[in-house]
Amino acid sequence: MAVPFERIQADFPVLAREVHGRPLVYLDNSATSQTPVPVRAAIDAYYAQSCANVHRGLHALSAEATDLYEGARDKVMRLVGAPGRESVVFTRGTTAAINLVASSWGECLQPGDAILITVAEHHANLIPWQQLAKRKGAELRHIPLTAEGTLDLSKLDELLTPNVKMVAFAQVSNVLGYVAPAAELIAAAKSVGAATLVDAAQSVGHMPVSFAELGCDFLAFSGHKMCGPTGIGCLIGRRELLDAMEPIEYGGDMIVHVDLQNATWNHPPYKFEAGTPPIAQAIGLGAACDYVTELGLDWIRDHTTALCDQAAAALSAIPGVRVHGPLTGRLGPVAFSIDGVHPHDVATLLDGEGVAVRAGHHCAQPLHGLLGAPSTARASFYVTNRASDIDRLVAAIGVVQKVFG
Ligand code: ALA
Repeated sequence: MAVPFERIQADFPVLAREVHGRPLVYLDNSATSQTPVPVRAAIDAYYAQSCANVHRGLHALSAEATDLYEGARDKVMRLVGAPGRESVVFTRGTTAAINLVASSWGECLQPGDAILITVAEHHANLIPWQQLAKRKGAELRHIPLTAEGTLDLSKLDELLTPNVKMVAFAQVSNVLGYVAPAAELIAAAKSVGAATLVDAAQSVGHMPVSFAELGCDFLAFSGHKMCGPTGIGCLIGRRELLDAMEPIEYGGDMIVHVDLQNATWNHPPYKFEAGTPPIAQAIGLGAACDYVTELGLDWIRDHTTALCDQAAAALSAIPGVRVHGPLTGRLGPVAFSIDGVHPHDVATLLDGEGVAVRAGHHCAQPLHGLLGAPSTARASFYVTNRASDIDRLVAAIGVVQKVFG
């Protein structure tokens, strides 16, 4: 069911503000989404009433904080269909989650093994594998793109040889906006016995995502792209794999017993949560899980895709504007170039018109090399947007083109 914009306006007071004397149009959601009132209220309630450390204290506030923190884990488990709460590891975000897998699970790689990713990955799902491949003498392979800017699986059989031990890919590209054929990729990976990691930074909270249905081994995402706070994300992992993996950080709460020479590890997820965790952020993430569930993940996907389709059509109809990636079916980001105008100038001039977009390589430098554009401008859509935002974007692009003749 459609969510009325009045409800969204009430939940996101930032939508009423002006920048540079113009009403704000926020189109940088793929970098960070806005934070609704219920999420901020959950964080504030923790700090106002239950602020204490978790797991350690034998007092009321610590018990409350622990219940809130572990309650957030349950909410994440339900949102993403994780097999159990022990499979939900809180991390700083997607980047930390993927680095954890590459550093810890990656220890099982041998020289001559291969890792398969795609040419479109953002750096968080590229550099950890590059470093692992160098450390282990493994080969890093890449799935190419079609001319349209979606994944080209026509040579998957050649790429997916039996020495491939990991297949890792973004479920939604942060530049091209396509939704990857995750089920097909995971089934193909399984057929050669490779593990799979789904980088769900742009998909969790944007569409229904189920770890159980995907059948992947690892799934990583961040809170701040799905209405939650910054500084929190998750690694969802298969229990057997998490059990077998070594921690990569050491300290409080991740141990069972310590003597002056040795230590033994707690079970997952605590084995991977050394030190005081991001308690308030986890509580905020739990509230964000509730929030997106209440809006409806089907509605969020349909609403966002409809806006992307409209935006891609409107932008590609402007002479001198090129949209990168497919014109339909995108979920969130719409990257584009304007002939003769540097993307940073595009973003600066759009900002002057009250329209916030990101410009640069969007942490996907190799992809931009392939696009033949060292950087692009990117408008990215989510629950806080509506069709009139596209009109404002198009009008603002008109201003940019006028300034640049
Ligand atoms: N990957 C994030 C983005 O696309 C940082 O903006």
